Amino acid sequence: MKKNLLLCIALFVCAPQVLAQSVAAAQADSAWLFSYATTKNAGKNGLHFAWSTDRVTWQEIGPEWAPVKSDYGNWGAQKRMLDPCVSYNEGKDCWEATWLVNEQENVVAYTFSKDLILWHPQDYYALPGTPKGTAHLLTDFQQRAPSASIENTVTLELPFSGEVRGQLHRVSWSLVNGMLQEQQILLAKNQQNAERAADDRKSRFSKLESQTIRINVQSAGKKRISDKLIGIFFEDINYAADGGLYAELIQNRDFEYSSKDDRKWTPSTCWTAENLDFSIATSQPIHQNNAHYAVLKSSSPNGKIINEGWEGIVLKKNAKYRLSLFGRVPVGKQSKVRVRLVSSSDKVLAETQLNLPKGNSWKKLTATLTSKSDATDAHLEIVPQGVGEYHIDFVSLFPKDTYRGRQNGMRKDLAEALEALHPQFVRFPGGCASHGNGLENIYRWKNTIGPLESRKPDFNIWHYHQSVGLGYYEYFQLCEDLGARPLPVLAAGVPCQNSSVGGLGQQGGIPLDQMDAYIQDILDLIEWANGDPKSSQWAKMRADAGHPEPFHLTMIGIGNEDLISETFEVRYKMICEAIQAKYPDIEIVGTVGPWCEGSDYEWGWRLAREMDLDYVDEHYYNSPGWFINNQDYYDRYARKGTKVYLGEYASHINGRANCMETALSEALYLCAVERNADVVAMTSYAPLLAKKGHTQWNPDMIYFDNTKVELTSGYQVQKLFGQNAGTEYLPSVVHLQQPNAEVQKRIGSSAVIDAANGDLILKIVNYLPVANAFEISVPAGFDGVKEAQVLTGELKDTRAVPAGLQPNFSEGKVTFQAPAYSFVVVRLSVQP
Ligand code: AHR
Repeated sequence: MKKNLLLCIALFVCAPQVLAQSVAAAQADSAWLFSYATTKNAGKNGLHFAWSTDRVTWQEIGPEWAPVKSDYGNWGAQKRMLDPCVSYNEGKDCWEATWLVNEQENVVAYTFSKDLILWHPQDYYALPGTPKGTAHLLTDFQQRAPSASIENTVTLELPFSGEVRGQLHRVSWSLVNGMLQEQQILLAKNQQNAERAADDRKSRFSKLESQTIRINVQSAGKKRISDKLIGIFFEDINYAADGGLYAELIQNRDFEYSSKDDRKWTPSTCWTAENLDFSIATSQPIHQNNAHYAVLKSSSPNGKIINEGWEGIVLKKNAKYRLSLFGRVPVGKQSKVRVRLVSSSDKVLAETQLNLPKGNSWKKLTATLTSKSDATDAHLEIVPQGVGEYHIDFVSLFPKDTYRGRQNGMRKDLAEALEALHPQFVRFPGGCASHGNGLENIYRWKNTIGPLESRKPDFNIWHYHQSVGLGYYEYFQLCEDLGARPLPVLAAGVPCQNSSVGGLGQQGGIPLDQMDAYIQDILDLIEWANGDPKSSQWAKMRADAGHPEPFHLTMIGIGNEDLISETFEVRYKMICEAIQAKYPDIEIVGTVGPWCEGSDYEWGWRLAREMDLDYVDEHYYNSPGWFINNQDYYDRYARKGTKVYLGEYASHINGRANCMETALSEALYLCAVERNADVVAMTSYAPLLAKKGHTQWNPDMIYFDNTKVELTSGYQVQKLFGQNAGTEYLPSVVHLQQPNAEVQKRIGSSAVIDAANGDLILKIVNYLPVANAFEISVPAGFDGVKEAQVLTGELKDTRAVPAGLQPNFSEGKVTFQAPAYSFVVVRLSVQP
């Protein structure tokens, strides 16, 4: 407390303008406003306000309403606001707030606001005297220090907060009123957001009866819509890559696991030894990026090391597997090893013998193994055939039958589930995995290409290991195999604002004198993806890797839901401007924070417009109530200029299931997105994949284990939209028999034409507890129903699957019965 008081005295030099404000106290339309924070929740509850007309009776603007909370540091211990000071800066005509971010670091947060409601994204300043290592924070705090007076800092006993210290301001009533109104709006929104379908039958629609809902699809007012509306976002979260989509069957194949990945892990994790001496060495590695290797000292013929795979290796009878490993025998005479695949009941299912070279040079040895039977929990054994020292590294086993038969390829069943979504683009490799946990963990694409043994593995921000075997080459190849455009996302020169490593544990930023090199890396990526191998060294690397044709990169994402701090802004602009200057045809997807409103969203949008970016990447995970009540979210967006990529969204309920209740709210919202697909160019649900037992985030679109792929109800919604995307939107008018706004909101409809074949596609959501009859009049020129499907089930169904539906079509009218809580898609073919 003492330290904070000193901070206020040091920073807030008495400012006459505040006194001038106090003089205005007598005015009739003014009130006293008190700004403060409490020590509750370790100081994480943010800035609060109370108001009074007499300084005796105080009223809370709340409960606990906090228009600004500290965004400093990682979740958990940080995000604290200690002893905030709020003052009015007349020169800048705005309110300013500063606070200490914690007790250990000499760092103060700064933000400002016009109305005390919407605050600028925060910046963090190292106070004078702060040791080096904080260079990434701006140091000109003195110049920018807000002026305020310690004299208006008082301690009050508030009935709702107890004794708190804060600042007293005399302000206009309209300022207070604005805050009170904002807080009322928030309460109303919270109520809407909390709406759950469980209350439909009980109360909201207890008397609702089935009705006929008539929809007129108009031919006038057509508009072209995005042809890349439905895509996927692949992030290495939940073991989506290693142990997931990436088909490698050996875990920790390169002995590079470390405590950075997981506190309990070491280079020998997932490996065990029997009857031989097994250690890890680093003195003469295959490559400096792959520093660790196994040293086996064998003194008897039955010694071996064993790899358990990803909690067991799955094998199929008669299927072929590509085995490879690097080896050498620096001393000793015998140099043979047997490599076996062995079942849990100790049956050898496949076996080969490899001859390691003698001496200090590594050699890559390969073999094909054929499994004698099915297994779900096999393991791999490496058995030296004599006495001596054997060095082994990079032990790899892939099914031959990967997606599209690619070597170093993808797990077929998972990739096929992705293909069935008909994704029009793929965003990768994150998410948070793109910007990483601290500067050193920023995902660098160049570390992920080239021979596997030379790539640079790293810890994964989601607390495991990224081998980067699924690297940039494989991502681009996957996009091509899926028929989707690549959308790589690169960090905007800053790591995740919630970073827990690296100096002050905050966003930080690549030092400005290293930014040119960082930007060059990004420009090189464009060259690598699209360039001509004859004239570009980067394109030649692509060609040498097996892809002489360009990858047709047209878009690039910069940043991932970053805090729009000054540290960020400077670097973000440098990167975007460099891309615009060198590659004006490459579309840039900017970032607007992690939420659908608020500081980062507002300032992110301003920046994007200022730089005339092509798209911004919006992220919001919300409740079904939010999706139901915000179907007009994009109706208010400007139709020209920067467009929207809704890059991460999902409907979340308590318990985080991906079920019919959430899936239908997403379907409802996607109908509204299709209506707005002139401004929303792309969408992708998040996250995409989750391995059961290794899930850091729920809900996800696809769950899997080593043998099964489980498609969620939300997956089916995505698939129905993806397979039935259109290129032209036709407006519709919906008529209810029993008009009611709550009912109206729960009927979604969208009509699009698919230019590829002229089909008219109707999508109808019935998010009501009763079945309803639909009668849809369509414009002339359509022949009949080509295909119709309905997705329905209990609200809690997590694995609902669509079934066929047989609507009637006559005299330009499609009619069908939509069950309670259902999503119907009808495709009409155009007359020949
Ligand atoms: O989709 C999961 C995470 O959510 C992403 O990594 C991040 O961008 C967001 O916070």
